[in-house]
Parts: sequence; structure tokens; C-alpha cells
Amino acid sequence: MSAPAKLWGGRFTGATDPLMNLYNASLPYDKKMYAADLEGTRVYTSGLQKIGLLTEEELSEIHRGLELIKEEWSQGKFEEKDGDEDIHTANERRLGEIIGRQIAGKVHTGRSRNDQVATDMRLYVREQLGNLSKILKDLIETIVKRAESEIDVLMPGYTHLQKAQPIRWAHWLSMYATYFTEDFNRLQQIIERVNVSPLGAGALAGHPYGIDREYLAENLGFTGVIGNSLTAVSDRDFVVETMFWSTLFMNHISRFSEDLIIYSSGEFGFIKLADAYSTGSSLMPQKKNPDSLELLRGKSGRVFGSLSGFLMSIKSIPSTYNKDMQEDKEPLFDCLITVEHSILIATGVISTLNINKAKMEAALTMDMLATDLADYLVRKGVPFRETHHISGECVKLAEDENLSGIDQLTLEQFKKIDSRFGDDVKDVFNFEASVERRTATGGTAKSAVLKQLKNLKDQLN
Ligand code: ARG
Repeated sequence: MSAPAKLWGGRFTGATDPLMNLYNASLPYDKKMYAADLEGTRVYTSGLQKIGLLTEEELSEIHRGLELIKEEWSQGKFEEKDGDEDIHTANERRLGEIIGRQIAGKVHTGRSRNDQVATDMRLYVREQLGNLSKILKDLIETIVKRAESEIDVLMPGYTHLQKAQPIRWAHWLSMYATYFTEDFNRLQQIIERVNVSPLGAGALAGHPYGIDREYLAENLGFTGVIGNSLTAVSDRDFVVETMFWSTLFMNHISRFSEDLIIYSSGEFGFIKLADAYSTGSSLMPQKKNPDSLELLRGKSGRVFGSLSGFLMSIKSIPSTYNKDMQEDKEPLFDCLITVEHSILIATGVISTLNINKAKMEAALTMDMLATDLADYLVRKGVPFRETHHISGECVKLAEDENLSGIDQLTLEQFKKIDSRFGDDVKDVFNFEASVERRTATGGTAKSAVLKQLKNLKDQLN
């Protein structure tokens, strides 16, 4: 008997519309998962042998065939054929060619592409997220190192993009290292939820030959099995979570990039990107554009699009498997590669940019110490609400008198506003002193920033 062109061809008599074949095929993109698919089949067939559905000899033939197929894929020698709908059918077809259909035809006993694809996806995502964890850790360590070595540099801290209070440049770096460490921790939690096994759930109703699902799970490195077969085949929450994680992470990357774009503008001049991460203008010879950062910012939109698009695809599909779910792959894969490249680019940018300490410090202005002026009186026992008002009057007077800053007011002028000002008020007007007062946990004093950096390193180890 000649093999049917399609795995499910038995009940079909009419030919498929050629465009339908194209429309239906996922091989062009799901072949990325070839190794996961072969590994799933390797363990699944061991499970079949364990319950007497394959002999030892059949199993070793199957495993030999799977090895050969893996080599073909990894060497780019796998020949795709018409009728290879997806990676699962392609691998099974090829196995039949290598070891004969008599044995290969037993591989899919009790298994469905529904539990198969869910298994492959989880194996693939687990591996990818493991890789993202590694490079994300590198990014964080790069930022932390930079912060440690540039701990002495001060710059303006902003709210509403208006100069607010002096901070350490290392404190700014530590902010993003903190975000990214949260992302790292969140990623570990997601990996735990990804890492459970749907294999052995069958098409939906469960396995008819009593396969040992715990055995399958353990041998695939999963920490447990999904407890309901209907859930096992229909659940794509791990895909959504991965894309949500990617979206949130890219949001952080986008804000990080936006800050650096602003800091690299001529008006700010705090940082200068390395040539490796900038490009020129085709028209204006003087331009050096922060394209790397703009792409990091721009790609955050694309990743969010992947998440929202897929959520729309699955929001009202009935239980359990529906072909809509095949739409998980392209956005997910695009998300994963975009995030991977973004992490690597961000690491490159931050490890190669130069800072301009003089410009950062020159951007500090005396009005940024108005809060410190209020705090000065607080230390003399005046309620903060009152000192806030008094400091505001000082700012106004300096402005009215066209002075360059509140530090230029004379002691008489201070005293006229409030008699509790003393000669020591001049000590307020020192940026380093302002920064160094913020020693409480999380603050911008050197000791506090170093503590943050140490804490981040501890979390990563
Ligand atoms: N290529 C399919 C997917 O990615 C595999 C599962 C197909 N299952 C089915 N019953 N048609 O979702």
C-alpha cells in the first residue's frame, strides 16, 4: 500500500486547494523546533516501549532514525517535501523513509499533534527563555559594573523631564539594573510555569494505553505533568506569558533608551554613543544618530503587537485545540528573537558609550537644592510645610533679583525671609552634600547606591 500524501489523508478524497496547503502549512516557521520535536518523540517512544507497544528492537531503530534526522536538520540537509505540513509531519515522514513505515507507523500511537505541538513548544520556549536569562544577566552585570566604576559622577535627576534633584549617574544606572533584575526574576517564575508536560494527553481526552505521563515528563526535564488532558492540549498561557514578559521587558528597554536618546542630544550632551551603535545621515554630514536606541524603543511596539495580536487570535476559541492556535508561533518566535537581539544591543550600547562628566555636573543648577534648603530649616525644628513655603520664597526672590541661583542670596536676604536662617545656610549649596544626605535604603548617597548594586549582584547569584 502506498503511503497517503497526508498524515490525515484517509478520509479525504478531493485534493486540497494549493493555496490552502500554503495557508495551512507551518513548516516554514515551526521547523525551528525540529530538535524539540525529535526529543519529544524519542522520549514518547520510550514510553510506548515501556507499556509494551514497541519492542526493544523497534525502539532502537526509531531512536537511530531520529538521530539521523537531527543530523540532517543541523547540517541543513533535511529535504522538505510537498505534504510536509508542519515539523511533526515532516519528521515522521522522514523517519518512515529511513527506518521503514512498518516501524515508523507505530510512533504516533496514542499521541496527537495536539499534545505533540504543545510539548514541542514548551521545550522550545524553555530553552529560549534559559538563553534569555543568561544574556539578561550579562546586561545587568554590565550595567552594575559601569555603575561601580562611575560611582562619583553626579547628574540631574528628573521628574516630568524637568530638573528635580541631584543624583548619581550610578543611581540612574542602578534604576535600570533594578528593573532588569525584576525582569530576570519574573522570567524565572515563567520558566517554572512553562516547564510542565502536556505529553500523553492524546488529542484531548487522554491516553488510551495508560502511558506513564510522569515518566515522559521526567525524561523531558519537565517538573510535572499538566493535570487535565483538555487543559494540556488547549493551554497557550505560557505563550501569552512569554510575550507579556517580553512586552514588559521591552517597555523597560524603551524607557532606558529614551533616557539615553535625550542624554545624547546636543542640548544635554551627557553621553556619547560609540560609533558601533550609531549611524550617520545620508544628507547631513554632521549627524550621528542614536539608531540603536531608537530601534530598541521602536521594537517595543512590535513586541507588544505580537502579544495583543495573539491574545485576539485565541480570545474566543472554543475548547480544546483549534487551528487558530497555530497562530502562536510567528509572533512568539518574532518576540523571542527581537528580545534576544535587543538585550545584546542594549548590552553593547551601555558597555561602549562614553559619559561627559563635566556636562552632567554643569547641568546641575542651584534651584535643584531648593528642597535641601527646606530640609535645612526642618533640621532647625521648622515644620516641613512651612519650610517648603519659605524655600519657595527664596527661589522667587532670587528670580526677582535676577540672581543666577538661590545660593547668591545674601544672609540678610535669607534672614529677611525667615529669621531662623543662619550663616551655615551656605553649606546647603553643595551638590555632593545633597546627594550624600540620601543615605536611606534606595537613595542616591554613595553608600546607598553601592548597597543597591551589591544587592542586585546577590540576587543574580
Ligand atoms: N501545526 C499545528 C500547530 O502548530 C500542529 C497541531 C495540529 N493539530 C491538529 N489537530 N490539526 O498548531
